[in-house]
Amino acid sequence: MVVAQGNSWRSQAEATLAQRIETWFQREARDLPWRRRRSAYGTLVSEAMLQQTQVARVCPAWKAFLRNFPSVTALATASEARVLEAWQGLGYYRRARNLQAAAKVIVVKYRGKIPSDRASLEELPGIGPYCAGAISSIAYGQREAIVDGNVARVMMRIHGRNVDGDSRSGKTWLWNRARDYVKESCDPGMANEGLMELGATVCTPLSPKCDKCPVRMMCATRAVGKQDQIPRPRRRATRSILHAHAILVSVNGRWALVRRGESGLWAGLFFPPTIESPIAISRATLGKRLGVDAKAFSVCGTFTFVATHRTVRFRVWSVDDATAKFLKTAHKGSWSWHAKGSVKKLSITSAMQRVFACGITPFVKSTPTITSGKSRGKRVPSMQS
Ligand code: ADE
Repeated sequence: MVVAQGNSWRSQAEATLAQRIETWFQREARDLPWRRRRSAYGTLVSEAMLQQTQVARVCPAWKAFLRNFPSVTALATASEARVLEAWQGLGYYRRARNLQAAAKVIVVKYRGKIPSDRASLEELPGIGPYCAGAISSIAYGQREAIVDGNVARVMMRIHGRNVDGDSRSGKTWLWNRARDYVKESCDPGMANEGLMELGATVCTPLSPKCDKCPVRMMCATRAVGKQDQIPRPRRRATRSILHAHAILVSVNGRWALVRRGESGLWAGLFFPPTIESPIAISRATLGKRLGVDAKAFSVCGTFTFVATHRTVRFRVWSVDDATAKFLKTAHKGSWSWHAKGSVKKLSITSAMQRVFACGITPFVKSTPTITSGKSRGKRVPSMQS
């Protein structure tokens, strides 16, 4: 920030910064559904959704979610399957489970009223320092700071300083700046949300619109023209490749599904039995891994799914009836069996929809939309088994 030294000068500069951003936000804020009628519950849901998903995708999902679960109690008492279904298209389903777990704690411990203080909020499942600060300041007007990616970028640019937001010292610096800022604001929620909004719409990573910025005169980065160097551009980590052999196994019209482990891709969700490996594996190896004759497998489709950190090359297999029966006995207890209708209901991820599109006719007919990964928004290609 372009400011003279000394504490009172610094407070004055922070007050001016906050005031300008608050005024700008009142004028320029995007019309987003959770901003129309504020509630702590609406804020909890929007912040949980916005953590790893873009605003455009969150808007319709937030409206539908609040229609399905209009209160903390409605969310706490719903079945997990319904909650996951309502999360469809947002990805990172662990957030949905955490949100429901948080709702259950709020009902039991706080009689359904979302707490307003940072400490209690941070004790809730899935609520970290950012989300706690956002809920307590935006929904309750508490003077609590927030730091997310947008806030970090705006702070670094205003102060003309590059810090590593993943390091302990970088985090400390960013949180201190965010605290200094909110301390001098008139309306902490508006100041915080305005800062995020500025980062999302004006002070963008590439080509920031400095001529539209309400605090351009105070920006140390703009003063030296280093907007393309602060923050330092990150080199994107290359995505590792994962080979996934998904096996469609059907006995008497019911399909085998397995609940995935608690971490990694599609954590905790039902999925067809899948053998994963960092290298491509042959049909013979696949047979060996499952303890059946390799000839029993037929390929019914292949596709590539691009996740945030990984590229997953899917090969979808079907097996003959005798092998399917053998596998059913061999995996008694770990595989569960589902009719077509319930498979469709459980197919909340686009990857699973694509796997079944390779083998189950109704999936081909309905051509579900891809909701995550690089192929976002495209139609699932029709593939016949
Ligand atoms: N990103 C996360 N929460 C946000 C909010 N409330 N406004 C703008 N961007 C956000």
